[in-house]
Amino acid sequence: MNYESFFQMSFEPFANIPDTRFFFETNQHKMALLRLMHAADKMRGFALLVGDVGTGKTTVARKLLAYLTRNPKFQTGLIVLTHENFSDEWLFKRIGQIIGLKDTTNLMKDPMNILTRQLINLDREGKKTVILIDEANKLSDSRIVEQIRGFLNLELNDRRIITFILIGVPELERHILQNESLQQRIAARTYLKSLSKDETYGYIKYRLSVVGANISSIFSPDSIDLIHSYSNGRPRLINTICDNALLEAAFLQRVPVDSTMIEEVSESLGLKKQQFENFKRQL
Ligand SMILES: Nc1ncnc2c1ncn2[C@@H]1O[C@H](COP(=O)(O)OP(=O)(O)OP(=O)(O)O)[C@@H](O)[C@H]1O
Ligand SMILES: [Mg+2]
Repeated sequence: MNYESFFQMSFEPFANIPDTRFFFETNQHKMALLRLMHAADKMRGFALLVGDVGTGKTTVARKLLAYLTRNPKFQTGLIVLTHENFSDEWLFKRIGQIIGLKDTTNLMKDPMNILTRQLINLDREGKKTVILIDEANKLSDSRIVEQIRGFLNLELNDRRIITFILIGVPELERHILQNESLQQRIAARTYLKSLSKDETYGYIKYRLSVVGANISSIFSPDSIDLIHSYSNGRPRLINTICDNALLEAAFLQRVPVDSTMIEEVSESLGLKKQQFENFKRQL
């Protein structure tokens, strides 16, 4: 069933994808983006975007990537680490592709040398190379962390020729902290937290406005307070609760969504139990 037509929405408002059309600029998301843009612009070498699960890191990373890709002075790309057991060969090849190496078959014969030469070529063309690594908390292999540090030693007449922006959950910092030399090179760091109650309201309102809908005719004020409480202000969970609540409301033809519906939806998503577990842990 499609609830968009029931609510006369132009498209789906709460899909869990990092769609830049829906980017809601809370102060912290805006600040994170600004800091990372600055780190890229000034070629600061090494920057981190850290945050709890589902707080918007990948969304900010996509927004940053869109900005860097639009600007021809950047040579840029995003590497997503899907698991921990990747080889240095895989990483070097991905970096090679991003910096425009035509042929990576012989890369492993002398990877640092070949990549450095290409980075110098790009620098001569006036290009700034910025590599984004998402899910960088999967960088658990200290040997690979050390190789990234090796890249940061590459400098030309006081100019860096590569900047890495690492994005991940707090575990990322634990890996970095084990390499003191890398830790000292962190030039910018941003931490994304959960949204406040007001931000949650603004977030839902904004998403609805993008699809041509009005928050006050869709969610009652107390339902929004509950969404904030069960989601813990995490955008991914806010989306999931709202999406399920809208489906329920359209099915029952009952608007606005009220607190009872949010209770039911949160129960069926297992969020009430989770909240209770979190509460118990704090005792
Ligand atoms: N500032 C924002 N504006 C609009 N939507 C957002 C924002 N932040 C997060 N979201 C939404 O929340 C969902 C989860 O965000 P995202 O995937 O960026 O989180 P994450 O921090 O990368 O999560 P994980 O820790 O699991 O990698 C996204 O799909 C997006 O729909
Ligand atoms: Mg992510």
